[in-house]
Amino acid sequence: MKTKITELFGIEHPIIQGGMHHVGFAELAAAVSNAGGLGTITGLTQGTPEKLANEIARCKEMTDKPFAVNLTFLPSLTPPDYPGLIKEIIDAGVPVVETAGRNPAEYLPALKEAGIKVIHKCTSVRYSLKAQDIGCDAVSVDGFECGGHPGEDDIPNFILLPRAADELEIPFVASGGMADGRSLVGAMALGAEGMNMGTRFIATQDAPVHQNVKEAIVNASELDTRLVMRSLRNTERVLNNEAVERLMEKEKALGADLKFEDIIDEVAGVYPKIMHEGTMEAGAWSCGMVAGLVNDIPTVQDLIDGIMSQADEIINSRLKNF
Ligand SMILES: Cc1cc2nc3c(=O)[nH]c(=O)nc-3n(C[C@H](O)[C@H](O)[C@H](O)COP(=O)(O)O)c2cc1C
Repeated sequence: MKTKITELFGIEHPIIQGGMHHVGFAELAAAVSNAGGLGTITGLTQGTPEKLANEIARCKEMTDKPFAVNLTFLPSLTPPDYPGLIKEIIDAGVPVVETAGRNPAEYLPALKEAGIKVIHKCTSVRYSLKAQDIGCDAVSVDGFECGGHPGEDDIPNFILLPRAADELEIPFVASGGMADGRSLVGAMALGAEGMNMGTRFIATQDAPVHQNVKEAIVNASELDTRLVMRSLRNTERVLNNEAVERLMEKEKALGADLKFEDIIDEVAGVYPKIMHEGTMEAGAWSCGMVAGLVNDIPTVQDLIDGIMSQADEIINSRLKNF
């Protein structure tokens, strides 16, 4: 399938794996790229420029196809060495960077000068237009359904995507709630040039996370996610568990007085325990409503092949017959 996104990134299928903390390692990124999509290494999980350079090198050993690095810009008391991370990305010749978190304008000139394509992930039409204005090549439009940080507007993709299509000139992919060929065709009918998936890619054989995480997604329904940290304007969609219920009790009790320190046990440093040790009650971890559509743990190759053949069947049989 050829779209503006496959052309822009030099990939076979318009399917992107979004950056995911403690999930987006070289193994997953390479598997997605080898299957014809665009895999993504999560820069901040590596933390230092040296470790990121090593992860990029590992990914290059596993694939000769294009892959991306995600750079998430978060408010932090001790910010990561973003210029150092970017230098490694440029030196290694990584062709695509997925930015997220906040406006990447400060770092865009260095990336663009190196010929890197930048896709900015954001949750509203106004941020998408800003990304277009500052020179991003594409946008990942992340609807309210998404796992991770859906922003504060709460606009689901059935509204957000056509709104983006009405306003944007640069190509965009649909992100949040995407799982299969139906999602891809639906997103494209609404104006997207492809789709970005997070949660669905975790429940694959290639995702280098504990089996408990994959099974938690398979066992979850679309009713099992919760929004936390709204009062901190850092809303996150997570899978419900004991730690999340505790966190929500604190939110209820403290209301507008809630501070990050009050919930530090439930949110800080929990990803390694969950993703690598499989201690599922260790804290709050991002998961999309799309868990309700995830019923198996295929290889990434089978997942992507299945998406493309289902999309083909929908376009060339189901829709044509109406
Ligand atoms: C476990 C997990 C961790 C994530 N970590 C990040 C991250 O570090 N940076 C980022 O930009 N997005 C992150 N995301 C968001 C995904 O890249 C993607 O935008 C989102 O999962 C799409 O929604 P979906 O889960 O419904 O497919 C994360 C998502 C999940 C599920």
